[in-house]
Amino acid sequence: AKNDQQQNKLKAAHRALEFVESGMTIGLGSGTTATLWIDLLGERVREGRLSVRGVATSEASETLARSYGIPLITLEECDSLDLAVDGADEIAPGLSLIKGGGGKLLREKIVASSAKRFVVIADDSKIVERLGKFPLPVEVVPMALPLVCRSLRSLGFTPSLRKNPEGSRYITDEGNLLLDCSGLYIDDPPAMARELDSLVGVVEHGLFLGMAEQAIVANAEDIRIVRP
Ligand code: A5P
Repeated sequence: AKNDQQQNKLKAAHRALEFVESGMTIGLGSGTTATLWIDLLGERVREGRLSVRGVATSEASETLARSYGIPLITLEECDSLDLAVDGADEIAPGLSLIKGGGGKLLREKIVASSAKRFVVIADDSKIVERLGKFPLPVEVVPMALPLVCRSLRSLGFTPSLRKNPEGSRYITDEGNLLLDCSGLYIDDPPAMARELDSLVGVVEHGLFLGMAEQAIVANAEDIRIVRP
């Protein structure tokens, strides 16, 4: 099953190449699906078939892109991105997304928001009727941890501090902590996003709403384009 899922991710990633033209500046997502996409893009850059620049959402994606010779720039060096392509943890109707399973939600949200088009690539296991089975990642300033935990509990979540495999606290690229919030289905994503945005000490959260132009979703049989 793992292997099938990998194949489906690859199919979706491959389809996203359709959007790429030489000269573009492209946001490079993070995670296993985005990694396959960077591989496909990178091979074409290395072979001289495509000439693009990238903006990376994580150190892992940066290292990978660099290994193919994709020139990397920062958002400060370009007005906007032509395209951003990234995976998602859950995809609900209207293209409401949960992202941040890999812990890179802040940079991913900035990059996706900076792009003229944001395209999600996924295998069909990511499709859900409503968001929330996958714990919603919330990035928190360390000092505000107790405060934000209380607020999240009063919203109905069970927040759990993300840890590294050895047991230390997971620290985001921007030096913050992550709370994985479970126990609540999110029936009204925009209302929940507003609640979370209003909490002092919350830097960002994994609800990506009204951002994706389309999701390319693959299973063993076919590839589906999902639109809001
Ligand atoms: C990274 O922070 C996430 O938002 C990823 O995009 C998400 O976790 C999907 O990852 P996979 O492609 O590995 O499922």
